[in-house]
Amino acid sequence: MQIDEIMNTLTNQQKVKLVSGVDNWYTAKFSDPQVPEIMMADGPAGLRKQSRDTDYQSVNQSQSATSFPAAAMVAATFNRELAHQLGVALGKAAHDNDVNMVLGPGVNIKRSPLGGRNFEYYSEDPLLAGQLGCAYVKGVQSQGIGATVKHFVANNRENQRMTNSSDIDSRTLHEIYLKPFEHIIKHAHPAGVMASYNKLNGTQVVENKALLSTLLRDEWGYAGVVMSDWYAVGDPVKSLKAGIDLEMPGNSASSHQKVLQAVESGDITQSELDQAVRHVLRMVEQLTITNHAPSTSERENHQTALDIAREGVVLLKNDKNTLPLKSADSVLVVGPFAKEPRYQGGGSSHVTSTHVTSMLEVFQMSDFAVDYLPGFSENTVEVDRTKEQAVLDVLPHYDHVILALGYRDEDESEGFDKTDIDLPDNQVHLLQAIANQQLESKLTIVLSNGSVVDVSWADQVSAIVEGYLGGEAGGQALVDVLTGVVNPSGKLAETFPKRLADTPMYETFDRDLNHEVYHEGIFVGYRYYDTRKMAVAYPFGHGLSYTQFSYRNLVVEEDVTKKRLVVKVDVKNIGSRAGKEVIQLYIGNRTSDVPMPTHELRGFEKIALAIGEERTVTFVLSSHDFSWFNPDKNVWQADNGLYEIEVGASARDIRLTQSIEMNMLTPKHIHFSRETSIADIIALPKAFQLFKDYFGRVMGGFTQTISADEKTANAEQKTMLKMATNFPLKGLVALGVPDDLVDQFIQAANTAFEA
Ligand code: BGC
Repeated sequence: MQIDEIMNTLTNQQKVKLVSGVDNWYTAKFSDPQVPEIMMADGPAGLRKQSRDTDYQSVNQSQSATSFPAAAMVAATFNRELAHQLGVALGKAAHDNDVNMVLGPGVNIKRSPLGGRNFEYYSEDPLLAGQLGCAYVKGVQSQGIGATVKHFVANNRENQRMTNSSDIDSRTLHEIYLKPFEHIIKHAHPAGVMASYNKLNGTQVVENKALLSTLLRDEWGYAGVVMSDWYAVGDPVKSLKAGIDLEMPGNSASSHQKVLQAVESGDITQSELDQAVRHVLRMVEQLTITNHAPSTSERENHQTALDIAREGVVLLKNDKNTLPLKSADSVLVVGPFAKEPRYQGGGSSHVTSTHVTSMLEVFQMSDFAVDYLPGFSENTVEVDRTKEQAVLDVLPHYDHVILALGYRDEDESEGFDKTDIDLPDNQVHLLQAIANQQLESKLTIVLSNGSVVDVSWADQVSAIVEGYLGGEAGGQALVDVLTGVVNPSGKLAETFPKRLADTPMYETFDRDLNHEVYHEGIFVGYRYYDTRKMAVAYPFGHGLSYTQFSYRNLVVEEDVTKKRLVVKVDVKNIGSRAGKEVIQLYIGNRTSDVPMPTHELRGFEKIALAIGEERTVTFVLSSHDFSWFNPDKNVWQADNGLYEIEVGASARDIRLTQSIEMNMLTPKHIHFSRETSIADIIALPKAFQLFKDYFGRVMGGFTQTISADEKTANAEQKTMLKMATNFPLKGLVALGVPDDLVDQFIQAANTAFEA
């Protein structure tokens, strides 16, 4: 395709057609000049290819395809390679079905556990979401298919998603909500970015030029297509001017007319229209499929879905090695989800799968003899006494009960938020009825859900297996973990709080129809719970294994020349089974003069270790890993000073810690003024010496007070020391120091620190 030539030939009538789709899934095509169409399909968890004439409301009507685990479970693998494989599989599936662009991944942050789309998103942590999303995009695009990262940005609630404004301060926006997108855009160059439904700080995202043009294009250098989420555009002229290249789906003649008129009247300049058209043409050029040989099979895809599910299952609790099941155990499986699995969420990522495996059928094909009873009905919250009693009656005959619980289909979908995180009453009732029997039999809960569940019943059960929404092979993966064929290695990508009321936005989430104020700032998920040292049900990064791992020899070395910090740790499998461990690296900033979480995830590696095997895991950190976003200067800033480097198996299971005084970062800039506190001066030995030189003579007593050694000072001295260090320089005047001496000191200090 010769884009310049095409641009010269296209009329404005044709151009306005190119900047909006022709229907739900296709872009416009022309024969003169030759511009082929491209087709899009939803993709986060499998290809949802709809035929051209499918009514958009018929969400669940799509061509059959492999259902992969939902993003919530992909995230729990903490495995970039698996996220990449998922992308490759989706890219191949798209290729085989003449789809050019996959609408995924969704990388929004799980801000509240109530967020309706949490199952479709990766994590409460931006590093994890960004890196897994990045691997996915690279996988899709390695097949010549485009990936569209969505929903840009801050679409963290579903209620009023098209009208509500996410009100976020600039630092939080950059550090938490933009970060996964920034990482993916800079490292994976996705063909598409989908602008979200919501407003951001009062401006509809699809009309937000500061976001879509200044930040995305000018600052981040994004060169692909920016499309709207479906039906998000209200004013096509405003949207095009803000940076939307492609309005989806096409709003037909009326939209074309409006854009054309705006070009004619000069409201939209020719170059604004041309720029959007060029972006679309470049996408068409990049994504037009030329090779039609089938590249993947259903069997291969099913295997990929199984591989991901096997690593995404999280063993939350396993008292007294309840699991894996022993082959001699007599097992009763209870709960309709064991038979009719809940394996995906609702809405645009719904896949029509023909190959779903249930836990029960896999069990029945295994060496484990299991019996089954429903125990409750999945489509209601009412207790079914007869079904419940049937379970209680037979309990004494079994060593082990596997109770499959979870959210119902209607609880988890795009388009609306949850109102609580409780399992349906009838399910909890059954759980408690079984637990209350106090028999010798062990009770294992297997969960099917796309996001956090209240587990306040956890003490009453022996084991909990988080099965998430495992896609079509989820049943097999669960049985493999329960029976020990697979040693679990999934870790939580989201904190399970003790109660919904513990979440930082509990009082405000979804309350205001027009504004969602992100008042907790950067303190999202574990950044909040860990900083407050709050008890949680299961922390971020948590997940048990059937083996154990030891951590030793933490080595932290700053390489000032190469501007990097190298962290090494030896991890050994000290148990009796081969297994995989996710080694997590957190950094605690003890330096910067802004609120900081106690620690933040800055690296993770998943490794496989045979019995007795030990390996050194190396993390290489750059200055960006130490930086925070300074909203006053609109830059990322990394301050020299003290940091804690923590390595562990979860955010609450830190095995090794080392403090380090960083020198490769930016020296903390200090400008001395009358507002500068004595504490800030004491912190800088050179400044403190100067202080003593200037004021020692006139304020001997005061200088002595603030020179006291905190370690050896008595109570009175300590109090005085603390009080005095909070004093600003201007306070010295009140204590009798001449004004000009204070000014002279300030001048001398600023000169000394300019050097
Ligand atoms: C969703 C998008 C999806 C699009 C097309 C919208 O409702 O928000 O995630 O890609 O529909 O199905």
